[in-house]
Amino acid sequence: MTILGIETSCDETGVALLKDGTLLTNKVYSQEVHTKFGGVVPEIASREHIRKLLPMINSMLEETTIPLSDIDAIAATYGPGLLCCLLLGLNFAKGLSFALDIPFIGVNHLEAHIYSPFIKEEEFTPPFLSLLVSGGHTQLIKVNGLGDYELLGHTLDDACGEAFDKVSKLIGLGYPGGPWIESWAERGDAFAFDFPVPDPEGLDFSYSGLKTSVLYTYQELSQEERIRLIPDIAASFQRVAIESLICKLKRAIDRTGLHSVSVAGGVSANKFLRERLRELDINWVAPEEPFTTDNAAMIAFLGYKLLKTGSKSDLMLRATPRLTL
Ligand code: KG4
Ligand code: ZN
Repeated sequence: MTILGIETSCDETGVALLKDGTLLTNKVYSQEVHTKFGGVVPEIASREHIRKLLPMINSMLEETTIPLSDIDAIAATYGPGLLCCLLLGLNFAKGLSFALDIPFIGVNHLEAHIYSPFIKEEEFTPPFLSLLVSGGHTQLIKVNGLGDYELLGHTLDDACGEAFDKVSKLIGLGYPGGPWIESWAERGDAFAFDFPVPDPEGLDFSYSGLKTSVLYTYQELSQEERIRLIPDIAASFQRVAIESLICKLKRAIDRTGLHSVSVAGGVSANKFLRERLRELDINWVAPEEPFTTDNAAMIAFLGYKLLKTGSKSDLMLRATPRLTL
């Protein structure tokens, strides 16, 4: 079964082809146009999807020499995400499925992230834990099986990736903030600033206090220090932001007794996070680099798993910006 995957929930246009569970090709266009705004501008993002989606699918089919008629099903993200962006990929997928008379399956973007480490690695037998850390979400989930999830904890305010983005903007670095903070942090002293590790009750997360703490510290610095100390601020912020994830993860492991953890989402690319995970006595897996941030390979992969169980979506399926697990 050959599946075309489509992802347009935010500022990445993604297309992928998967044959019988094996990824053939994965293409992502990251819309750099948002860099100068320090965040995603929805109207611009949707226009970029329109501009890119069809040419990307055409060139993918050409490169793989797979004719359109060989595609057996289409999987597309239907939420969560920006409505104007979701509508593009979803309606494109529905139209093509109708025209080719093949099944269409709507995919939950969060669920796709959870399974993204298993595109290339052997899948854990449920139950297992999932730490989902992206620009929009920070969640600890107990995965009991496909479609069966227990939310153990989530962020009470900003998402972890969002905090990386906001701190990066504050100290004059680029967007998305994660990779910028990570690379400046390499030259910094992670203990130069003693930002408090956020620890709300239980398994929930909070990043707004940490962000404000960085802001107040930054405001106290002279112009010269604001430039000279960028590596130290980046390293100290990164240490604390990641420490909070590790602290909650350890607590979740203690509470559930589960030692298998899938870590996913944009922040899972962070090398310091992976270093800290390696220090824990657990069985963890994170996606390869191209599958950490938004991509269509994970959409096609979950679409395949769902289709195998006999699921398929109705063409009336609506884009759902606030979709949960
Ligand atoms: O999963 P993703 O592409 O989009 C959402 O679904 O939100 O995640 C994007 C987020 C951004 O906030 C970005 O700053 C963060 O992931 N990110 C990172 C790294 N690479 C991307 N955060 C920390 N370290 C990184 N290396
Ligand atoms: Zn995502």
